Amino acid sequence: MNNGIASPRPPASWRDSLLALRDRLLASPKFQRWAGAFPLTRPIARRHARAVFDICAGFVYSQVLFSCVQLRIFERLREGPDTLDAIASATRLPPEAARTLLDAAVSLHLIERRADHRYGLGPLGAATLGNPGIAAMVEHHGVLYGDLHDPVALLRGEVKDTALSRYWAYARSAAPGALDPGAVAEYSTLMATSQSLVAEEILDAYPVGQHRCVLDVGGGEGVFLLTAARRTPALSCLLFDLPPVAERARARFAKEGVNGLAFGGDFRRDALPTGADLVTFVRVLHDHGDATVELLLRKAFAALPPGGRVLIAEPMARTGGAEPMGEAYFGFYLLAMGSGRPRSPDELRRMLTEAGFVSVRSLRTRQPLQTGALVAVRP
Ligand SMILES: C[S@@+](CC[C@H](N)C(=O)[O-])C[C@H]1O[C@@H](n2cnc3c(N)ncnc32)[C@H](O)[C@@H]1O
Repeated sequence: MNNGIASPRPPASWRDSLLALRDRLLASPKFQRWAGAFPLTRPIARRHARAVFDICAGFVYSQVLFSCVQLRIFERLREGPDTLDAIASATRLPPEAARTLLDAAVSLHLIERRADHRYGLGPLGAATLGNPGIAAMVEHHGVLYGDLHDPVALLRGEVKDTALSRYWAYARSAAPGALDPGAVAEYSTLMATSQSLVAEEILDAYPVGQHRCVLDVGGGEGVFLLTAARRTPALSCLLFDLPPVAERARARFAKEGVNGLAFGGDFRRDALPTGADLVTFVRVLHDHGDATVELLLRKAFAALPPGGRVLIAEPMARTGGAEPMGEAYFGFYLLAMGSGRPRSPDELRRMLTEAGFVSVRSLRTRQPLQTGALVAVRP
C-alpha cells in the first residue's frame, strides 16, 4: 500500500480476470476516446458518461427540486402556465435567478417550456403534486443534506451529533419511552403526511379484510390503520407506539371516528398487546439494528394466535430496478440517523424464519420503490 493506493491483486477467478480487463479498458483515456468516436460504441460511451455525470451532479439536481418545492412553484403552475416575470415576482426572486431555476427545472423535466414564453408543469413536477408526502420529504431533506456534508467523517463514526439523530429522537435514545410530546411532533407529522400513498400500496398488495383485528406496531399517528379501516369498516384496530405518539393516534382516531385503541410504550421493553390476528410493521424495522428487529419479531410471534400473520412493509435493499433507493439512499439516510439499516427481502425472510414464522411470502407492490412487503404465518 502506498498513499492509500493498493497495488493490483491477482484475480481470484476467470470472471475477475474478465472484469479486470473491462475495468482497465473503461479507465483508459485512449479507449474512452476511441469508444466515443466509434459509431457502434458511441451510444454506450455517451450513456456511461451521462450516468457518471448524473451521479456527480445529483446533489445539484436535488437542490433544484428543493428550491421548486420550497417556493411552491409546482403548486402555482398547477393553475396553468405562467410567465417568468409573474413567477419571479410571486417567489420574490430576481428575474435572472428565476430564469436560472426554471431553466434548470426544465432540463430535469420538472417544468416545461410552453407557448408565449411561459413555463408550465413538466411530467416529473406534475407527478410530485400527486403525493403531498414527496414535497414533505424533499423539504425534510434539508436536514439530511447538512448531515452529509462530510460523508467520510460520517462513515468513520466521527460525527457524533447529527441533525437527523436529533430529529428521530428515538434513534439514539436509551429511554425512548420517556420522550416528551415535543420530541416526536415533527417526525410524526412527516410520517402521517407521507403515509397515505404507502398505505394504499400495501393494502392493494395485501387485503387486510381477511383479518378480524390488526395491531400496527410503531404505527405513528394511525394513518395506516385509518386507511385500512376505511376499506374494511369491521376491522378492529390496535396501535402501539411511544406514549406521546400513541396520544396523537388517539386524537386522530377520535377525530376520524375510528374505533381504534392506541397503546403507549417502548417496544424494546414492553410486551405487545395481544388480540390481533395480524401484526404489521410499516416502515419500522429498517430504523433498528438486528438485535431489536429479532426481538420485535419474537414479540410479534408471542402476541399472535396460531394461524395469525405478520406483515412487514418498508423500502427494501436489493429492490430490482431501484437498487439505489435501498442501499444508497436509505443506507446513508439511516447512517446519518445513527440507527438501523436497509434490509433485503432475503434477510427479512431469514429473520422471520428464525423468529418461528413459516410460509414467508413476498408480496408484489405496484411501486417497490416506495415499499416492499413480506407476509408470514405464525404456526
Ligand atoms: C419511521 S416511523 C413509521 C411510522 C408509521 N409506521 C408510518 O409508516 O408512517 C417509526 C415509528 O416507530 C416508533 N418507535 C420507534 N421506536 C419505538 C419504540 N422503542 N417503541 C415504540 N415505538 C417506537 C416511532 O415513534 C415512529 O412512530
